[in-house]
Amino acid sequence: MEFYFNKRVFVTGGSSGIGLETAKYLASWGASVWIAARGEQRLKDGLVEVEAKRVNATQRFGYISVDVGDPQAVREAAAKVLSDDGLGGLDVLINNAGVAHPARILETSDDIYEHMMRVNYFGAVYVTRAFLPHLFEQKRGNIAMVSSMLGFMGIYGYTAYAASKYAMTGFADALRQELIDHNVHMTVVFPPDTDTPQWHEENKIKPAETKAIAGNVKVLPPEDVALVMLKAIAKNKYHVVPGGMGKFTHFMHRHAPGVVRWVIDGELKKFRKKHPGASA
Ligand SMILES: NC(=O)c1ccc[n+]([C@@H]2O[C@H](COP(=O)([O-])OP(=O)(O)OC[C@H]3O[C@@H](n4cnc5c(N)ncnc54)[C@H](OP(=O)(O)O)[C@@H]3O)[C@@H](O)[C@H]2O)c1
Repeated sequence: MEFYFNKRVFVTGGSSGIGLETAKYLASWGASVWIAARGEQRLKDGLVEVEAKRVNATQRFGYISVDVGDPQAVREAAAKVLSDDGLGGLDVLINNAGVAHPARILETSDDIYEHMMRVNYFGAVYVTRAFLPHLFEQKRGNIAMVSSMLGFMGIYGYTAYAASKYAMTGFADALRQELIDHNVHMTVVFPPDTDTPQWHEENKIKPAETKAIAGNVKVLPPEDVALVMLKAIAKNKYHVVPGGMGKFTHFMHRHAPGVVRWVIDGELKKFRKKHPGASA
């Protein structure tokens, strides 16, 4: 995609899933890319895959191990990425790092609630604030937030995760307007279930009710989500929902939220009828 040629892009959570596929597309379109996550081995392995997509010798690639929930570490990482040893500047920031832990409310510990907010919400806040002075100064840039369908609607078993993604969506909504004066554009992506390591981990612990309710939504490959997001960023599009079912649900939730609740509550009722002995 022409928009990304020679662009410098930082992708959090770039060692796996949606973030890794995003970084690979970017490399194949001539962008310089830095990926960030905590685990060093996955970053190293991911970077090999990303670099293999390079199309010219001037592209720069690298990784940085950082916990996005640690504001001081994030500031230090941003300084390194912006330096000449890193990307030497930034055009596009992709806030994609995230964690999920589905469980019923009383089976969700305080630590899990705090961890979701720390990574999914504060992580996006800290990383964005660390790079904003640079984007403001150059009066140009794009910021993307990888939220979730659970960033605009809630379902059974996702009280901690949905709240953290709603928080991210609200942050982006207010920031979008502040960015206008600086010629910086905001894109928020709301993926449905996507076939990534995180989704497989979630499936191991999802309450049966959650599976019954979410089971009807088609699971997307991570490269589809990455492509939809990257196209939206290139067009300065604000909100984007990958996949037909996701788009339809988003539309219905906006214009007829009661119908969406009726459908998902119907799925829960069906589940209770089928499994009368299951614990609630
Ligand atoms: N998969 C889905 O069904 C789905 C649906 C909707 C939205 N999303 C969102 O899409 C984004 C990507 O998810 P994914 O499914 O691609 O997950 P994934 O394959 O598990 O990748 C998550 C990435 O985030 C990194 N990460 C996690 N905690 C971090 C932290 N504290 N600091 C820095 N990096 C951290 C991980 O690396 P380390 O663990 O090594 O740090 C990894 O690189 C997330 O925000 C997720 O909520 C996913």
